[in-house]
Amino acid sequence: MPALAQFLHELDAVEHAALAALAAAADAHALEAARVQFLGARSGRLKELQQALAQLARDEKPAAGKRFNEVKARVEEALAAARQRVEQQKSATTHEAAFDPTLPGRRPRLGHLHPITRTIDELKDIMGRLGFSVADGPEVEDEWHNFEALNIPPAHPARDPLENFYLAAAVAARPDRAASPLLLRSQTSTVQIRVMERTPPPVRIISVGRVYRPDTADATHYPMFHQMEGLWVDRHVTMADLKSVLRLFAACYFGGEGHIRFRPSFFPFTEPSVEVDMAWNQGWIEMGGAGMVDPHVLAAVGYDPEEYTGFAFGLGVERLCMRRYQVEDIREFYKNDVRFLRKF
Ligand code: PHE
Repeated sequence: MPALAQFLHELDAVEHAALAALAAAADAHALEAARVQFLGARSGRLKELQQALAQLARDEKPAAGKRFNEVKARVEEALAAARQRVEQQKSATTHEAAFDPTLPGRRPRLGHLHPITRTIDELKDIMGRLGFSVADGPEVEDEWHNFEALNIPPAHPARDPLENFYLAAAVAARPDRAASPLLLRSQTSTVQIRVMERTPPPVRIISVGRVYRPDTADATHYPMFHQMEGLWVDRHVTMADLKSVLRLFAACYFGGEGHIRFRPSFFPFTEPSVEVDMAWNQGWIEMGGAGMVDPHVLAAVGYDPEEYTGFAFGLGVERLCMRRYQVEDIREFYKNDVRFLRKF
C-alpha cells in the first residue's frame, strides 16, 4: 500500500477507536485512560501519526495534514463531550445518594412535659371537676402567712430556723404590720390565708406549688417539693365532706385501686386533724395531711367561725406521681436525666 493510503487508513482506524473509547468511558478514570491513549502528548496514537505524517513525501503532506487536523479536532471535541457527560452522571449519582426516597425518614425527637408538670395538670383537672378553682400564692412568704395566721405561735418548733429556709437579709416591709423575716414557704397552707384574706366565704380552691424544707435528700425526701393544697369553707361543711372529696379524688386519680385511709393526727391550723395514707406496695405511704379548719384560723382572716366551717388538705404531689408511675426515688425527678424523663 502506498504510504499516503497507509497513513489515511491508520488515521481512520485511530479516529474510530478513539471515538468509541471516549463514548464508552463510564467514569473520569476510564476517560483519562482514553485521553492518554489517543491524545497523550508523548506516546498517544495521534502523536505517533503526527510523526508518521512528517515522513510522508512533500506533495502528500498538505492533504494528509488537513485530514490529520480534522481527526484531531474531532477527537478533542469528543473528549470534551465525554467529560461533560461523565461530570453530569457523577453529580446525578451523588445527588441520589444524598436523597434516597426509599429510606424511612428520621423522626425528630419531640420533647414533652415533665412528669410533675403532667401530674399537676391532671390534679387541677380532677379537682376542677369536683368544683375547686385554682389559686396561687408567692413562694417567698412572711411569717404571718406561713405561721402566725395558721395558728403557729412564735415559740412553736415548726418555726425553728433549722427547719426552714429563712432569707437572711430580707424583711417584709408592710405599713400595716411589724417588719417580718421572709422565708421560702414550707407549706402551701399559706395560700389558704391569702385566699381567705381577699375573698369573703364561701371559698372552694386548690393551690399547687413548690414548698421548701431543709431536709436531706433521700428516696422519699427532697429539699424542694410540690404540694396541692385544698380549701373548702362554707356553711355546714363537715368532716364527711372532707373524706368524700379525698376519696373521690383518689378514685379519679388512681382508678379503682386507689385505697386511702385516714389516721388521727395534729396540725395547729386544723381541728380535728388527720393524716392521709395511700396504699402502695402492700403497705401504706403518707400522702398528706388534712382536717377541719381551726376556728382560730377563720377568725384570723376575719371569717365568723360561728357561721362558717371548712376543711383543708395538703397532699404531696411527688408522692402522688411516684405512686402512679411506680417511681421509687423522688430524686429522679430533679436529676434531669433524659433516660428517666423519656419514660413518661
Ligand atoms: N400543711 C400541712 C403540711 O405541710 C398539710 C396540711 C394542709 C394539713 C392542710 C392540714 C390541712 O404538712
